[in-house]
Amino acid sequence: MPSVERKPRKGDRIVVSIERLDAKGQGIGHVDWPVYGRFPVAVRHAPPGATLLVEVVRRRSSKVEARHIEWLDHGSEFVDPLCKHYGTCGGCAFQNLKYERQLVELKGLVAEILNARNVLGDVQVEPVIGMDDPRWYRNKMDFTFGNRRWIEAGADSDGPQGFALGMHVPFRHDKVMDVNECYIAFPEAQNIVNSARSLAKEMGLEPWNLREHVGLLRYLVLRKGFHSGEVLAYLVTSAEAADRVDPFAAALIQAHPEITTLVQGINELPAGVAVGHVDRVLHGPGVIHESMGGVTFELSPKSFFQTNTLQAERLVEVVREEVGSDGHKVVYDLYCGTGLLGLAVTPEDGELIGFEREASSVADARAYAERLGMGHATFVEGDVLERLEEGVAGRTKADVVIVDPPRVGLHPKVLPGIAALAAPKLVYVSCSIKNAARDLIELKARGYRLDRVRPLDLFPHTPHVEVVLTLTLENSTGA
Ligand SMILES: C[S@@+](CC[C@H](N)C(=O)[O-])C[C@H]1O[C@@H](n2cnc3c(N)ncnc32)[C@H](O)[C@@H]1O
Repeated sequence: MPSVERKPRKGDRIVVSIERLDAKGQGIGHVDWPVYGRFPVAVRHAPPGATLLVEVVRRRSSKVEARHIEWLDHGSEFVDPLCKHYGTCGGCAFQNLKYERQLVELKGLVAEILNARNVLGDVQVEPVIGMDDPRWYRNKMDFTFGNRRWIEAGADSDGPQGFALGMHVPFRHDKVMDVNECYIAFPEAQNIVNSARSLAKEMGLEPWNLREHVGLLRYLVLRKGFHSGEVLAYLVTSAEAADRVDPFAAALIQAHPEITTLVQGINELPAGVAVGHVDRVLHGPGVIHESMGGVTFELSPKSFFQTNTLQAERLVEVVREEVGSDGHKVVYDLYCGTGLLGLAVTPEDGELIGFEREASSVADARAYAERLGMGHATFVEGDVLERLEEGVAGRTKADVVIVDPPRVGLHPKVLPGIAALAAPKLVYVSCSIKNAARDLIELKARGYRLDRVRPLDLFPHTPHVEVVLTLTLENSTGA
């Protein structure tokens, strides 16, 4: 701490004890400073319980951001990170924190965010439903090719630096680090990525140049059906280039017979998205299968599907419990994707009305409903905002409404339409509790009471938390 009485500034070194995590997964502690007073300090990769020497990186109005210089005490919640890339790769925010404590921190974050909006009242946030084993949980992982390899601290810098296959380095979007091990992707993914990297280098295939937008190989997306064991490899390239891509694909499949299908996606546009405008199936059927909630889903490279199969099964169970079995017949599933939640909770003699923007997901949802013999399932294609009113017209009153919107939450203009459904029960599945908290204010104003808050950890080692919020209509004229 400086002897002069001034505000902390960049380069100052201070000692901080970490108390909790914030919504970005950073450790937060407090420091007392002469005259300036007590202020919060945010440090990446710093677990609660640890004491560290840190260096101020920047001062913001609400906190000081600092970087780790030296551990002074690891504290009792620290564990050795699983992965050698932890700290450089942006995938995991707090792999060095005991898993049980991660769940406690997530619960605290949910309560803090709901309380800040004044929507929790007397309701207790329930313990976060975690995984028995929080490793190898992702059924889908996107790996990026790049021509500027990031050299990790302490790593061998002798290898070629013009080729990488792995993850973008946080804050350096032109650089990609080779990922040689990963404990959150499904187990087979690692060897496939390592082979793809060596084969592409051996065969002289150029990686995408992230600055100049030239080169052939852009992404390798790997996806697995946990129940079927099938593996899909989706290779996104900037051109068809069959003379180079086909031999590469054949060599990868020969090295990894566990790849049951390989699809090439061609995307020549500069924007960095792992999706082809044209797809070519180079091996197998072009799809894999996954079962959940009594439905077998057929997944193409572009189908939306929950990323953590085991926890998504628990999510379906929680939604089923919240919907209950007390005679509900008419279920509205807004933002339904391929119908996972609605199909799982609607009784055989019930009626399901789903709303979804993506045409391919709607087509899939219709096919699954037919396969399940659900005669009374309708899926309305289009933006919920535009289609809700007309999709509801002339239909039976809703018993239950499920909403599972993307991170942005509900569009403010959708709220009156939801309220007009006047469903006695509303189950809101949220992947952004911050935005759900904002929507709860509006739903409460329209007569809904919050009954339960049940978080689930779908993304261990990250601050993302899925939350099932159950609401009941108190005043049916509230709309
Ligand atoms: C979080 S996902 C939920 C999917 C589904 N409930 C599941 O668990 O598989 C959100 C879905 O909302 C769809 N979506 C996003 N914005 C939409 C909108 N404005 N209108 C209709 N659907 C939308 C997305 O395509 C996506 O399928």
